[in-house]
Amino acid sequence: MRRPIVVGNWKMYTRAADALMLTTAIRNGTSRLNTEVVLCPPAIWLSESRSIIGKGKIKLGVQNMFYEPEGAYTGEISPLMVKDLAEYVILGHSERREFFGEKDFDVNEKVIAALHTDLTPIICIGEKKREKLPKQPLHQLEEALQHVPKSKYDRVIVAYEPIWAIGTGENADPEYTAKVITFLREIGLAKTPVLYGGSVKSSNVAGYARRPEIDGLLVGGASLRAGEFIKICEIWSHVKHFRE
Ligand code: PGA
Repeated sequence: MRRPIVVGNWKMYTRAADALMLTTAIRNGTSRLNTEVVLCPPAIWLSESRSIIGKGKIKLGVQNMFYEPEGAYTGEISPLMVKDLAEYVILGHSERREFFGEKDFDVNEKVIAALHTDLTPIICIGEKKREKLPKQPLHQLEEALQHVPKSKYDRVIVAYEPIWAIGTGENADPEYTAKVITFLREIGLAKTPVLYGGSVKSSNVAGYARRPEIDGLLVGGASLRAGEFIKICEIWSHVKHFRE
């Protein structure tokens, strides 16, 4: 179902004390907002974050997982393990594709496993270089959704993250982003939340929030500073709520 969502991807940052402090501050700072807030800390801190959040509104996710339910796969985390502590899983992030050789096939297997386990996959797609209307995100999305019946498309989240915008400070223009998202939705994503990610910060967030095509954000660097992330969530919640 489409709804306002802000996801924080902490990547491989934070030590135990930072994770504790960040989770607590974000829990306190976002409790009254009208937007779904999802934190994706490193998996090793998930238990701590879970106990801080308790039955609060914030949701938890992981940044990756394997698709097998269990087995001799040293170092991997299974969907069933994730399910014990979290509800979301980021899949196919460009850093997974670039540094760990993840292919569209792997992403597809993981999407299927997530849905099978009742986890919400956040499928990341995005083109390497600036283009007028990039084809790669659509191709990646179609591959990620292979064998997933259209009736289940409202149970996934799509994150459009142009690679050239990730961690570069060069965020994509909101109008351009809205155009790409409209193009992506044509494969049957009318009810699917679609997020934007790439150098989002509190000073550029309003431009995205005002576009009805964009349901939410996937925030990397700026999600590691509690004050900045809370501000992003506040703006998202206020602008989206005001528009309704
Ligand atoms: P960024 O990262 O906000 O630091 O650009 C976004 C992401 O990688 O999900």
